[in-house]
Amino acid sequence: MNILVINGPNLNMLGIREPDLYGKADYAALVQLVEETCAQEGIEVEIFQSNHEGAIVDKIQEAYGKKDGIVINPAAYTHTSVAILDALKAVSIPAVEIHISDVSQREDFRQISYAGKACIKTFMGLGLEGYRQAILYLKDYLEKQ
Ligand code: DQA
Repeated sequence: MNILVINGPNLNMLGIREPDLYGKADYAALVQLVEETCAQEGIEVEIFQSNHEGAIVDKIQEAYGKKDGIVINPAAYTHTSVAILDALKAVSIPAVEIHISDVSQREDFRQISYAGKACIKTFMGLGLEGYRQAILYLKDYLEKQ
């Protein structure tokens, strides 16, 4: 099993940006958690972060025919990007959406998730632990396919 974990804009600033919302752990800690989880589960993983919408679209397209599943935190692009939604639909790779904060309890403009419309499941409000949950959920889903 070979998965791609995508993180959108400003997630490279974890630990610095709004720690009350996103916690004190930095991006390196997130990468470590994902790598450790995947190693324990026997999953091959590529981890990608970009602040650019088109780069995320390119990465999703590159995954076509190569990756079995995607875990994606599109960050602010969650609420704006039809292009990322269309890319996920184009490749038809099972994807799980993750948000560190509980977006359902935040501003009105965060209540729409475009990418989420192409995802089999969403985890939110669990901090970095949500990534572990998302990977385990995706693994279980792919094994049942
Ligand atoms: C986020 C929530 C988004 O609304 C926000 O723009 C982010 C991070 C989260 O992980 O909680 O950058 O995706």
